[in-house]
Amino acid sequence: MNLLSEISKLEKEGLLRELKPVRQKGAYVEYRGERYLNLSSNDYLGISGTDDFQREFFETLNTNTFMMGALSSRLLTGNDPCAENLEQYLAELYGNACLLYNSGYHANAGILPAVTQKGDLIVADKLVHASIIDGIRLCNCEMKRYKHNDYDDLERILQQSADKYKSVYIVTESVFSMDGDTADLERMVELKEQYNAKLYIDEAHAFGVVGECGLGCAFNKQLVNRIELIVCTLGKACASEGAFVVCNPEMKQWLINKSRTLIFTTATPPINILWTGFIIKKITEMKTEREHLRAITKKLRNRLSGRRILGDTHIIPLVTGENDECLRLAAQMQSNGIWVMPIRYPSVPAGQARIRLSLTAAISNNQIDKIYDSILA
Ligand SMILES: Cc1ncc(COP(=O)(O)O)c(C=O)c1O
Repeated sequence: MNLLSEISKLEKEGLLRELKPVRQKGAYVEYRGERYLNLSSNDYLGISGTDDFQREFFETLNTNTFMMGALSSRLLTGNDPCAENLEQYLAELYGNACLLYNSGYHANAGILPAVTQKGDLIVADKLVHASIIDGIRLCNCEMKRYKHNDYDDLERILQQSADKYKSVYIVTESVFSMDGDTADLERMVELKEQYNAKLYIDEAHAFGVVGECGLGCAFNKQLVNRIELIVCTLGKACASEGAFVVCNPEMKQWLINKSRTLIFTTATPPINILWTGFIIKKITEMKTEREHLRAITKKLRNRLSGRRILGDTHIIPLVTGENDECLRLAAQMQSNGIWVMPIRYPSVPAGQARIRLSLTAAISNNQIDKIYDSILA
């Protein structure tokens, strides 16, 4: 492949991606000396702006132990007691076993290949995240896709296929990262029970945000014990790094034995695991922040109601269609002090480019007006 000519092709199509040197804190992001309101962050509860939490956390540390690296895989010598303590704490919260992964990507790339075999079927929502798709690609079984959040289509596939496969896994996100809408988990659980299938859900954009204690959609709907695999990520609302899966104890034991993204990688550094445990305790109490996030979401969604917006959550996709218009609107909003990124193919289907307005609890009510004005400018 001629990389230079491929790169210039990407540039002509408006698809070239670049790394930008940015620093984020709370509601803001700093880029080349300018401060912008950050609408591209997954720090949904605004934790990066809370200096007090970080200070309090550092005071809890015993600096006589080495915390900066895990030094090996958990199955060798990298299984610091803090990892099992955190799993135990999460297991008590969810009422089922929990297993940590280094990231959501590791979890999604490693769980499905470990639990499926030849002769199984994976039925995935058309819009599941790239990390889930990569996991499915590593599986030795068939895959079918159902139309996004279309449970009649899912049922049609289950009706046709359920008997023909050893096991059927249904896979979805709970809150969709690029469409900002929510899966109907109650309906999905009914379907999976009716067709004797298993359910895998990714709560990356729901953990911290959805439910009284922020424990996600499955917990909120009291469905934890009826869903085989619930993946929550820790790099978003939790402002840390890593992920965990909620499953039954046998499944946990199986994953420890068979999940290659857990076995063949250095474990998460103890400093991160300790921070995760510290911050989840705070998150379960951050009801005011979740309330505020809901209120500003409602306000911005109402103001944008004449426009092509999708979903029903704090992630508000403003669809522009073509890449050029998306790039133009992103530049316009940036020149008005709002940090947004144009989201283009392959992150979303071609022709459905969009600005993803990702709200966080650090954004004030008045700043919602500023965001709206920057779209009209
Ligand atoms: C739905 C979804 N799942 C998984 C991931 C990956 O999580 P992590 O960033 O922890 O690797 C992401 C991140 O973008 C995501 O949006």
